[in-house]
Amino acid sequence: MKATIAVLPGDGIGPEVMAHTTNLLSIIAEKNGHGFEFVEGLIGGIAIDETGNPLPDETIAICETADAVLLGAVGGPKWSEPTSTVRPEQGLLKIRQHFGLFANLRPVKTYPALASHAPLRPDLLEGVDILFVRELVSGIYFGDRQEQGDGTESYDTMYYNRDQVEQVANVALRAAQGRRGKMTSVDKANVLASMRLWRRTVVEIHEDYSDVELEHLLVDACTMHLLTRPGDFDVVLAGNMFGDILSDEASVLAGSLGMLPSASLRADQFGLYEPVHGSAPDIAGQGKANPIGMFLSAAMMLRYSLQLEDEAKSIEDAIDAVLADGLRTADIRGANGEFATTDEFAQAVIAKL
Ligand code: IPM
Ligand code: MG
Repeated sequence: MKATIAVLPGDGIGPEVMAHTTNLLSIIAEKNGHGFEFVEGLIGGIAIDETGNPLPDETIAICETADAVLLGAVGGPKWSEPTSTVRPEQGLLKIRQHFGLFANLRPVKTYPALASHAPLRPDLLEGVDILFVRELVSGIYFGDRQEQGDGTESYDTMYYNRDQVEQVANVALRAAQGRRGKMTSVDKANVLASMRLWRRTVVEIHEDYSDVELEHLLVDACTMHLLTRPGDFDVVLAGNMFGDILSDEASVLAGSLGMLPSASLRADQFGLYEPVHGSAPDIAGQGKANPIGMFLSAAMMLRYSLQLEDEAKSIEDAIDAVLADGLRTADIRGANGEFATTDEFAQAVIAKL
């Protein structure tokens, strides 16, 4: 098949992990007779430096003609002074909203070989396999806000309507049907009106999914349950801000944030794929970045936007095989402190394909 892929490396370690990912995809394309065309665009801090805009129109145009978007990471201390009014993160929020990418999928799985890197007892981590479905284009991130009135007050608004909850609940419930048949919906219905609407809507939508077991958790309790019984969760559905917080919390179950991919989807096959880790400016350019999060994001792209399930699986299997061989990047290095550079690790994955 032929596909055009928009490539937005961004800042920090974004460009390093992205270069290895396009290389990996080119090799997969060559082996399987596909034609992937990569078109590069600016986003984040580098886009601010070059154009003054964290998401230039040209980047939007590139993404509009693409079948899918791969994104590295945005941000860094250079652009994050408290007084900065133009911030790299605005590029990320804008691209999500512009393309209506309402469903953010963040799978978290534990790798038995990495259990010693996670801060929980290994017995708690057995069989952890959670899919977070985070609502991504509404809620408090996009509600009415006042940045500053006379300088002494400001506010943000958590707004949801029925349609917004319905569309993301459908994604999560369908995902649960294809997995272990369980969904946990997270809210704060005991305090917030928007979260009572959330719960009511989820209950109603769930009526069409009698094969899915539904559980409701208040977000504060959920933070605790994720640590005391992580193996019980299957699909976790949450609003924009709660999903942001819970997915970071759960990421440590995998042993390192560097391992985790994400997909941001809408109702058609278009999607944006990015690792969950950020730009990690402290380790940029040192060969210490873990390419797994970006590689697994590319695998999700092959699966969801390009319907290339076998190719997606080949990336996941290659990573498993390299980890089974004992190779480790800096973030998951063993007691002896030795680690493979980003380059060495990426080459090892490619060699397994
Ligand atoms: C994420 C990040 C972003 C978010 C930031 C960088 C705007 O934390 O993707 O989880 O809050 O959504
Ligand atoms: Mg986050």
